[in-house]
Amino acid sequence: MTKPKLSAAEITEQVWCGDLACARADGTPVPQSRGRKLAWRCAKQFPSLRLKFLIAFMCLLWFSAKTNRAAETNQHVPPEGTPAFDPRPLMDKLNERIVTDKYCFAVLGDTKHSVKFPALTQYLDETIKPDFVLTTGDMVAAGGGTVGPGYWEELSMDSGAEFRKRPWWPAIGNHEIASDPIFMERPKSEQQAQMKTNADSGVENFKQFYNLDREYYSFSFRNAIFIALPFPNPQGESFNWLENELKNAKDAGKLIFVWNHCPFFTVGMKSKAEVPNAPTETTKLFEHYGVCAVFSGHDHGYYRTIREGIPYLISAGGGAQIYPGLRKAEALPEDVYYFENPESYKAHVNNKNVKPKYLYHNGVTGKDETLNEREVFMLVVNVDGNKAGARCVTSSGRILDELILSK
Ligand SMILES: [Fe+2]
Repeated sequence: MTKPKLSAAEITEQVWCGDLACARADGTPVPQSRGRKLAWRCAKQFPSLRLKFLIAFMCLLWFSAKTNRAAETNQHVPPEGTPAFDPRPLMDKLNERIVTDKYCFAVLGDTKHSVKFPALTQYLDETIKPDFVLTTGDMVAAGGGTVGPGYWEELSMDSGAEFRKRPWWPAIGNHEIASDPIFMERPKSEQQAQMKTNADSGVENFKQFYNLDREYYSFSFRNAIFIALPFPNPQGESFNWLENELKNAKDAGKLIFVWNHCPFFTVGMKSKAEVPNAPTETTKLFEHYGVCAVFSGHDHGYYRTIREGIPYLISAGGGAQIYPGLRKAEALPEDVYYFENPESYKAHVNNKNVKPKYLYHNGVTGKDETLNEREVFMLVVNVDGNKAGARCVTSSGRILDELILSK
């Protein structure tokens, strides 16, 4: 089995490689393979721009051919001999064990092979002991194309044992569909074709890894229905599907929980184009059908806000770097959030020796706090009949937030 071309630790170092910089489907840069990085380093040695490009191009051809051969011959998702991480058989056992509407589930995401993730899973496993887990996406660094199978294998090695202990229900994120480089100097049509190829193979790998028929789906458990949305948002067929799911759930008198990757509201660093912080056709559906809560990831940090009566929570503290709260001015007075302090972010972007500081704002208690160490955290949701409550807990046991979700 081909190993991932990059370790998680290498990703941030290799994102920017000068002329060979590339971007994912969502426009963020992707890590370079070792071959491409080498090509860039070789090219840097030569002063002539034309020679630089010629050397880089030849190296790229050679390494691409090598990678493609590996992809054709021995890459499988999940790894050969490993059964898919299908949550449904475990859910069947849960249905036998739990016979009342009293249960607990965790919500976490944006782990991307982080060295901090095992501490969170240990806390989850030994202390929280949820009945099942919802993941809000970005569980792999790059799930599509030639590098994808290696990252899925890494996930199975890191977390496979956890995935066998209790059901882990996934939502698809941009990193599940990210992969091979998009060369910005090439025609737009080529860039778009590469993005589509990456996304298509990423979606297929995602479905195979978890044995799902589709990347968006729902499941029922006791008195609730859980609806996983596609990335970035439901549109066309998936929008109609969502409306139908919500209508059926409401008619059946179920609690409705929705989860996905891209949030609808944030105070982190995702742009307005991606997270509008304004009503959309999808949020209007949530209001119309009385969704109990919407859980998302993507903007690494914690955020809770209640908009038009619907709780929206970002649980994206599974281990990836915490983003700065650049949009904190858009928070409502009672919101709660945990992001990197924007001032500290500016300082350490300019000087890598400056240690990041984190801003924990609790609009309910009116407290602001600066934290020096990065926290990993999850949401824990307890359902008891028609009552549901959530708390955000760190792997050290600190409670960052508590709220009632049910109406
Ligand atoms: Fe993401």
